[in-house]
Amino acid sequence: MEVHNVDLTISAVAEKQYPNTQFPEIALVGRSNVGKSSLTNVLINRNKFARTSSQPGKTQTLNFYNIEDKLYFVDVPGYGYAKASKASREKWGRMIETYLTKREQLKGVITLVDGRHAPTDDDISMHNWLKYYNIPILTVATKMDKISGGKWNKQESLIKKTLQLDANEPLIMFSALTKAGKNEIWRWIEGRMKR
Ligand code: GTP
Ligand code: MG
Repeated sequence: MEVHNVDLTISAVAEKQYPNTQFPEIALVGRSNVGKSSLTNVLINRNKFARTSSQPGKTQTLNFYNIEDKLYFVDVPGYGYAKASKASREKWGRMIETYLTKREQLKGVITLVDGRHAPTDDDISMHNWLKYYNIPILTVATKMDKISGGKWNKQESLIKKTLQLDANEPLIMFSALTKAGKNEIWRWIEGRMKR
């Protein structure tokens, strides 16, 4: 999709604040600092629209980005942020669970993993949890610019194996720096919007 108009509709902390629209929604989930906001910016052709930070745990709310009045990207706060208090992690868990399991407009979830390493236990749990709820998943391995081209295949296999991806579960290698994978990710999103 050619994106010209984007608008941060709301940073929600509670269900009653979610937008009252029927546009399809695509959520972005992944560990804190993995690159969710950076991916959002690449998809919408903006450098700094979604706030990115080298400090993990920046995004604390469900941020609904209205894309061309056709769809919402929902930037979900990162999990596995060690310094977050137990209480705030529990609150996070409830908010995310409510959104991901109850929201009818949600058409799919993009889960990001760090392409440089094997997916962590948190990544595996998140993947299994989404599968359990039958939520369509696109796995994106990001920061691939930090890996030499010759090692991409090896990383791809490692990620597939660690997450136990079936042959029909999509995995796209991505870089916010080079924008590799951007068009493929858009194709998946557009496919989900039609359901
Ligand atoms: P939280 O909001 O804290 O959950 O983090 P996030 O997942 O939104 O991560 P964010 O997009 O803020 O990126 C975290 C850091 O990783 C920033 O310093 C980004 O510049 C960097 N980063 C993100 N994607 C890439 C990438 O593809 N390549 C490289 N080299 N750096 C990246
Ligand atoms: Mg973020």
